[in-house]
Amino acid sequence: MEETLVLVKGDGVKRRLIGEIIRRIEDKGLYIRDLRMMSVSRELAEEHYAEHREKPFFEELVEFITSTPVVAMRVGGDGAVKAVRNLMGATNPAEAAPGTIRGDLALSMPDNLVHGSDSPENAEREIRLFFGE
Ligand code: TYD
Ligand code: MG
Repeated sequence: MEETLVLVKGDGVKRRLIGEIIRRIEDKGLYIRDLRMMSVSRELAEEHYAEHREKPFFEELVEFITSTPVVAMRVGGDGAVKAVRNLMGATNPAEAAPGTIRGDLALSMPDNLVHGSDSPENAEREIRLFFGE
């Protein structure tokens, strides 16, 4: 079964949207395979977002993700990576379609509520980072 890494970022935790986000994932037919609330160290954040290291928003992104605990989940199901990306909506909530998590519930970046791996390869890498093994 394909798996993907989902994070409910700090804004989602603060706004008490953990349940809402899990509900949308489960309603889609996906499975929560593992779940933990955790702090993200600077080291983990920089590794997780390594592809963005040279981007102008990198520092703000790392500051944001390390500032408050997140809920990390291993989410499984057929085509889980793409399915979660579709549920999340576009990266910029201002452009995310209604009906998506970001389109319905978020307004700005980097506090766009959720992370979902963008490919099966990155999913494996990110699951290893957040859950080990
Ligand atoms: P990215 O991997 O491009 O988006 P996604 O989360 O949809 O995979 O970017 C990672 C995060 O960086 C994104 O969720 C929010 C933040 N970000 C900004 O703050 N400003 C930006 O211009 C972009 C592209 C992303
Ligand atoms: Mg991404």
